[in-house]
Amino acid sequence: MSTLLLPLDRIEDGGFAEHEATLDGDAESLLLYRRGEAVQAWLNICPHAGRRLDYAPGQFLRTKEGLLVCAAHGASFELSRGECVAGPCRGASLRAVAVEVRDGGVYLAE
Ligand code: FES
Repeated sequence: MSTLLLPLDRIEDGGFAEHEATLDGDAESLLLYRRGEAVQAWLNICPHAGRRLDYAPGQFLRTKEGLLVCAAHGASFELSRGECVAGPCRGASLRAVAVEVRDGGVYLAE
């Protein structure tokens, strides 16, 4: 049985959410990004120095161009592939976590 993370409507369309999940036996913080009926997820860990991306749980910074900005040292990530496009870890990527949306919920993909 796959794990329900949260109802889709808890994430504003175009917005972010943070949610804890157990992955391979470890508690991890996830960053979830909703676009319409689709959700992408990554570990809430910056590839630069391993800090959380949010400045408070679930509070993520974004540029007016739509890039996600790490709250620690300002690395900027584009949101289709999670790649760092500016800042101290340019070229590195967030670690994607497979999720699926069904029945109005966001689930960890099996
Ligand atoms: S830890 Fe994210 S920019 Fe340094």
